[in-house]
Amino acid sequence: MIDQDTFVPLVDLKAQYASIQGEVDEAVIRAIRRTDFILGEDVGLFETEFAAFCQAKHALGVASGTDALNVACRALDIGEGDEVIVPAFTFIATALGVTLAGGKPVFVDVDADTGLIDPTKIEAAITEKTRAIIPVHLYGQCVDLDPILAIAKKHGLAVIEDAAQAHGAEIDGKRAGSMGTMACFSFYPGKNLGAYGDGGAITTNDDEVFEKLRLLRNWGSTKKYHHETMGLNSRLDTVQAAILRIKLARLDGWNQTRREHAAAYDAALAGLPGVTLTKTNAKSVYHLYVLRMDERDAALERLQAAKLGAGLHYPFAVHQLGAYAWLGHSKGDFPVSEDWAARCLSLPIYAEMPTDAVPRAAAVLAQG
Ligand SMILES: Cc1ncc(COP(=O)(O)O)c(C=O)c1O
Repeated sequence: MIDQDTFVPLVDLKAQYASIQGEVDEAVIRAIRRTDFILGEDVGLFETEFAAFCQAKHALGVASGTDALNVACRALDIGEGDEVIVPAFTFIATALGVTLAGGKPVFVDVDADTGLIDPTKIEAAITEKTRAIIPVHLYGQCVDLDPILAIAKKHGLAVIEDAAQAHGAEIDGKRAGSMGTMACFSFYPGKNLGAYGDGGAITTNDDEVFEKLRLLRNWGSTKKYHHETMGLNSRLDTVQAAILRIKLARLDGWNQTRREHAAAYDAALAGLPGVTLTKTNAKSVYHLYVLRMDERDAALERLQAAKLGAGLHYPFAVHQLGAYAWLGHSKGDFPVSEDWAARCLSLPIYAEMPTDAVPRAAAVLAQG
């Protein structure tokens, strides 16, 4: 029997904590007893384990996903006068990472089927000021980077993957975080790999870039009071790293369960009038399960009334936000991104989600 009364949130951090509480509590207490709060034992161990998970040579913990993007841009010496290509449809932090480093984001529209940056529109946005491209592995999908890496090579540009939503996502056996010059991850609590506070990481296969990143996250120094460059204070806390190590060991399993929930949604929602499902050619980790529909706002209200924690990711494309009004864009500049923003709708998804959330959501959406 379907339970219609239980509230199903968009993501349930309490359910996940309940499943790992003993191990997490012990690891946190161990870290506190060691008092190695800054760049302590668990940070180094987590960095090694996370690099292996991402199929990357190096991983470096930083304070957040936004800082990861900022530090990655700084490692490329991106600053005033430099342009970086980002998709117009993403979370604002992708563009903010560029602006915080002093560069200018240049938007490119997204693909209608996937919501990912449209590689066929990138070259038209390249100028003599362009330094890098930031494809975003949105919703847990993995961008097909081959065409983007080819464009980057042709024009001498770096590629920074924004993998904040895609820990463990794959395309053709390659993981998010293993393909670009660098990749930036967020460990915001609701992410597939979430800390119990803010956190982030950058992966890279390039030894030189890695050394630069190490300086930048720690006031420009690797040796106390020897500051070789103007860096930031942006480190992953030891306590957070201790928690992340426990969750990382379970992440592939959790991601697989998310895929199963997504497959159940796909089957239940296929063919519903007015509903467009997101197509993905990669092994998504379904950070979010997003569809598009007309009358989206009414559907959102009906889902919430039925105790289903639906959401919008994202209700505005980045060029539509006040924060980037100074770039001077207007409605219609990135029509596919604007359509995604107007019609996207996220349904609850997390490993511990009760399976009857799927038929409940499908029944509500069928009432449209
Ligand atoms: C695509 C994307 N990029 C960057 C970020 C920034 O990460 P954080 O919240 O850890 O700063 C997020 C998440 O918040 C995100 O979803």
